[in-house]
Amino acid sequence: MVCPWTPLSAFDAEARLRETVDLGAAIDLDVVWSDIIKLREIRAGSFFGQGVIARIAAIVSEKEVELLVVDADLMPIQQRNLEKELNIKIIDRTALILEIFGERAQTKEGRLQVELAHLTYQRSRLVRSWTHLERQRGGAGFLGGPGETQIELDRRIIDENIVKINTTLEKIKKTRGLQRTARKKVPYPIVALVGYTNTGKSTLFNRLTQANVFAEDLLFATLDTTMRRLKLPSGCEIILSDTVGFISDLPHELIMAFRATLEEVVEADVVIQVLDSGNKDNRQQRQDVLEVLHNLGLEQIEYQNNYIEVYNKIDLVADGSLKFGDKSLPISALTGQGCDALLLRLDEVLRRNYKELTINIDAADGRLWAWLHCHGEIIKSKERGNMMQITVRLSAADYSRLQNMYEVGLT
Ligand code: GTP
Repeated sequence: MVCPWTPLSAFDAEARLRETVDLGAAIDLDVVWSDIIKLREIRAGSFFGQGVIARIAAIVSEKEVELLVVDADLMPIQQRNLEKELNIKIIDRTALILEIFGERAQTKEGRLQVELAHLTYQRSRLVRSWTHLERQRGGAGFLGGPGETQIELDRRIIDENIVKINTTLEKIKKTRGLQRTARKKVPYPIVALVGYTNTGKSTLFNRLTQANVFAEDLLFATLDTTMRRLKLPSGCEIILSDTVGFISDLPHELIMAFRATLEEVVEADVVIQVLDSGNKDNRQQRQDVLEVLHNLGLEQIEYQNNYIEVYNKIDLVADGSLKFGDKSLPISALTGQGCDALLLRLDEVLRRNYKELTINIDAADGRLWAWLHCHGEIIKSKERGNMMQITVRLSAADYSRLQNMYEVGLT
């Protein structure tokens, strides 16, 4: 696995190499060698110069390497020439991430988004170097080996497929809109966990919900949102939603696929950003996440009352070496440290922005009465025949939920 050194945004080459190695591990690659290669220039035909190729060839034979991941964008001709010279399979960063997305996508929409990204990737390579594309690397993945499809797709077919997928995606989006409206009627606030991959979102999700979802030291363990119910110390219930992890410098073909999986966050009542306290890039990662959230329509989310930051993996950091702002909580999803404080903070956040209102409900409606008790603070209640007049303090989110759930007379 090699990370050619080039001036890299805010991330340095070491961090990028670490991330790439982790990405490889996410699809069960056994990484036998990784290095940063400083290039004076990029060769049009083979990406690397002959000296570097010779060095890699020696490692390939010594370590019996079967696959080389180059953490850069390779032109099809460069990939092909490298494959010929080294006699092994070569993939670039986009192909590696596509492979991971392909493995992890659970829902139909997730799979279609990945397929779309795959086709767009193929199409861009087709335009650049059609003549060199003999073997088609199809939806079954880049690492498919003998099972790899040999179908010759031309641009027209790719375009037709893209149109078809887009039409299906549009339909799915419409249904999802309806599902969301239905979810708004669910009488629980939705709390979304967002953050960079490997920061510990799934571990936190499991710890808080005691559920056993997929949490491993793998990147992208969750491409599609996972949701579970959980009870806060106040007794109120919420739905916790785990989202797909962010990755630095996501190839542009993959941004839409990634964002589609994050749209759920827009609907959330509270957003928790999970940061890795031990990761020295966490400030940059925090900014990246906020930027995507802003682009999704959550402008200035970091200044809102419904936003919390947790610095996870605090068990790995020396005491006192970190400072936290008002909205930040140090936690360890692994040991449970700080998790009670997080639940209390959630209660507090949900109780902020209360609205006082008086409603008339059917005295026999035990369910609504219980809901009001759980979600709000009952200021007074008066019986009027078969009806009850209740003055209650509710959060803005619960207020609109109440409107959606019941046609009660709000005064
Ligand atoms: P993606 O699904 O890839 O987005 O990752 P994630 O953010 O959900 O991370 P995950 O929960 O899978 O955790 C990644 C790794 O960090 C796992 O090996 C966890 O055991 C480890 N981890 C999570 N939380 C903690 C923590 O508080 N302390 C320590 N020491 N390790 C942790």
